[in-house]
Amino acid sequence: MAQLLWQPAFPTNRGVFAVLLKGVGKLRLVVVWRETWRRRRKMFIKQFRTGGDRNFGYLIADAASKKTLVIDPSFSPERIVDCAYKKGYQIVYIFVTHDHFDHTNGNAAIERLTGARPLLYGDTDPKTGVCVEDGSSFPLGKLEVKIIHTPGHTTDSICLYVGNSLFTGDTLFVGKVGGTDLGAGARAEYDSLREKLLPLPDETRVFPGHDYGIAPESTIGVERRSNPFLIQPDFEAFLDLKRNWLAYKEEHGIA
Ligand SMILES: [Fe+2]
Repeated sequence: MAQLLWQPAFPTNRGVFAVLLKGVGKLRLVVVWRETWRRRRKMFIKQFRTGGDRNFGYLIADAASKKTLVIDPSFSPERIVDCAYKKGYQIVYIFVTHDHFDHTNGNAAIERLTGARPLLYGDTDPKTGVCVEDGSSFPLGKLEVKIIHTPGHTTDSICLYVGNSLFTGDTLFVGKVGGTDLGAGARAEYDSLREKLLPLPDETRVFPGHDYGIAPESTIGVERRSNPFLIQPDFEAFLDLKRNWLAYKEEHGIA
């Protein structure tokens, strides 16, 4: 009799719990799907094969405001600007990931075409008065462009973090990292990768400055788990791999 008095108001059998859990699972799925859809709608990314040594350039737009950013126009400024204009996008920033000729050679042409000044590390944007330095950020409609200074390949190397996408220039490639000397440059690059890029969320999309890998883009999670340089246990091993990269590539069938 006592048992009957303590019976809960709702049946608590397994079937009811299963239905409830299924409902929660479906709800989570809908939330994730809506978030992905919302982000995609908000942000437009186009990757261009600009020429040179398999260089990549990028057009990134806040779809709602049509405010647009170009990264490393290099050998194809006209094509990138043409694409932006056809979509009705307004180019408000041009960033250059570092001062190597194959990334900077389109700067004069794109400034002529758009009136926007290409910005490298240390430059101040004439419109916003913001300096391109570690931690600075630039508004792009409802998006934000965050600058991450990643010295190593060059002392002025930057990565640009927009939404959940990271534009890595020559700091990080798909399955590879940027070329450096075997001294201070390598040390700086190791620290930049470890301290600034690897802490980013797994799902962060990685868009490199060259098409050197098995795919044109990757994610931080994939690179953290599989990039030969990022799976090394310490700086000495990282340096050792740089020293013996040609032999490693041959041994592992890497192009
Ligand atoms: Fe470079």
